[in-house]
This record gives sequence, C-alpha cells and structure tokens, in this order.
Amino acid sequence: MALERTLSIIKPDAVAKNVIGQIYTRFEQAGLKIVAARMKHLSRAEAEGFYAVHRERPFFNALVEFMISGPVMIQVLEGEDAVRKNRELMGATNPKEAAPGTIRADFAESIDANAVHGSDSLENAAIEIAYFFPATDVYSR
Ligand code: TYD
Repeated sequence: MALERTLSIIKPDAVAKNVIGQIYTRFEQAGLKIVAARMKHLSRAEAEGFYAVHRERPFFNALVEFMISGPVMIQVLEGEDAVRKNRELMGATNPKEAAPGTIRADFAESIDANAVHGSDSLENAAIEIAYFFPATDVYSR
C-alpha cells in the first residue's frame, strides 16, 4: 500500500455542532495524519468551483448554499491508503445508509447536511488539495 494524501472538509453542520475535535480523533486513531489545515468561510465562487463536477445535478444549488452557510474546516490527511481509509471513516453519502460508527452515522442529519467531504480518488485528491493549499503549506510527516 502506498502513502497517500486526501482532502477532507468538515462541513458547516459539523463545525456548528462543535465536533471538529471528535472527527480529528477518528482520523488520528485510524493512522491518518493531519498535514495541513485551515478554517474558512467559503465564498459562493469557491464552493461552486470546488463542486464543479456536480454543476448539472439537481442538488447543486442547495449544496452550494449549504457549503457557504458557515465556516468549514479543511484538512489534508496523509497515510497508507488514505483516500479509501477516509471514505470508510466517513460512511455512505446518505447518513441513513451509513454504517454504525462512521462519522456520518454519528454526526450527520441528512444527505444534504452530511458532516464531511472526502476525496473519492487519488486523482481527485491531488486536484482538491491544490484547490485549497499551496504545496508549501502541506507538511509531510
Ligand atoms: P457525492 O460526491 O455523490 O457524495 P460524497 O460526498 O459521499 O462523495 O455528492 C457530493 C455531495 O452532494 C454530498 O456529500 C451531498 C450532496 N448531495 C445531495 O445533497 N443530494 C444527493 O442526492 C447527492 C447524491 C449528493
């Protein structure tokens, strides 16, 4: 297995619930290291650009509105198999279908306010990391 990096976002609902630390603990306990992090209130243009692949989907406008409804916590996670590991910790997109003990099962309310984002492939991880962090702001450990 290779050392990978993936992009994680703790979404406005989870930031408002004050569970950033609880989610960080799950990353750390799974062997993922936080190698970059920043809190940010995304502009509409930033959120639209980040989710550009979903532009034609019916939920796009609601997704953007939700993502700009409050600050988010953005981090780069590094570790063996980081992309898949983070997706496993997150659970299914719809929290009602998420396995018990996953972040979405424990902290999310609905499919549109589902607590976390995680890159779904190594290729997208590289694009998403570069969207928020210059290479000099990622501290490999
Ligand atoms: P998607 O990339 O399919 O899910 P994931 O976040 O698990 O990779 O969708 C991106 C986000 O869009 C998702 O986290 C929440 C929102 N969304 C909806 O609001 N309704 C939907 O029906 C879907 C599929 C996604």
